[in-house]
Amino acid sequence: MKGLLSLLLYMALLWAHLITITHSSVVSTGDFNQDFVWSDSDHVRISPSGHSLTLVLGKKSGGDAALIISKKQFIFGQYDMQIKLTLDEKGRSTGTAAYYLLTSFSKDGNQDMILFEFIPNENGKGYILQTNIYTNGHGKREETINLWFDPTDKFHKYSIFWNKYHVTFKVDGVAIRVFKNYSDRGAEYLSTSKPMVLVGGFGKDGKFATLVEPSGVKTTRVKHEHNGRDWSKTPSSATFKSFKIDACVWKGKNAADCSIPSKTKWWNYPKYSGPTSREVADIKSIRKNYLVYDYCHDHGKFGGHMPKECSFPKY
Ligand SMILES: *[C@@H]1O[C@H](CO)[C@@H](O)[C@H](O)[C@H]1NC(C)=O
Repeated sequence: MKGLLSLLLYMALLWAHLITITHSSVVSTGDFNQDFVWSDSDHVRISPSGHSLTLVLGKKSGGDAALIISKKQFIFGQYDMQIKLTLDEKGRSTGTAAYYLLTSFSKDGNQDMILFEFIPNENGKGYILQTNIYTNGHGKREETINLWFDPTDKFHKYSIFWNKYHVTFKVDGVAIRVFKNYSDRGAEYLSTSKPMVLVGGFGKDGKFATLVEPSGVKTTRVKHEHNGRDWSKTPSSATFKSFKIDACVWKGKNAADCSIPSKTKWWNYPKYSGPTSREVADIKSIRKNYLVYDYCHDHGKFGGHMPKECSFPKY
């Protein structure tokens, strides 16, 4: 009897476990070798298991950016990555920036993008976190926050959640920003006809422009400011690990079935039609305590013509 009970309990646990598994559509292996390609091997150091990968500024290209790009393209879902940055021996961020983003392929600069950017803070002593959204090539939606920890101290988890209702940026599970779909009120939102690749990058701080094409990574470019530094001597780096992609894989046609609610397309359930009350509380607190810059407050930048979404509630 006791044996049977424990067997039943075991089965129930197993079943519960199976249930939670079917509530996701994790399409990543956790091995960078299998799920990503990279710009060039000079700037990429991969661990023997393939589970951790460091991007550095190489000598050859004079410190151009290093990029890793997912082999598959996606629509919607959640994308987690653990990231740790390093500073140089003097504790400076030395003008380098790290990137973690989703971007659509684009030949004519009309790409959609969801972007985390670690940029040197003004005193060059560390990093601040900037997020941005591009719709049809239109960016300039920067929000910048101070992190409540030192991102060079240890790994932290950075997540992008994306569905037809909103995009949410999270750090260690804490929502820091939401970008809502206000297209019914005339604002721009990400297109479901533009599948995204997941990208990690590291390079000089400056204007980052990925012009990724379906043929591969060769056409990726980073525009940067030339200010006379010898970037090859900067020993800073960015390490990525423990990525998880729980998303709808683009099959080359349309994304209609990526928007149908189901256990494997859980992001379409009504409960994800907006940020949760917990996420709203997180965002309020982050904005109150850590916000450095919000494009919706920057009237000068837009010459009085603020982006449509700025007149609607953020969260
Ligand atoms: C954004 O919301 C509108 C309805 O308000 C919907 O028609 C549209 O499909 C949504 N956009 C995406 C990309 O899902």
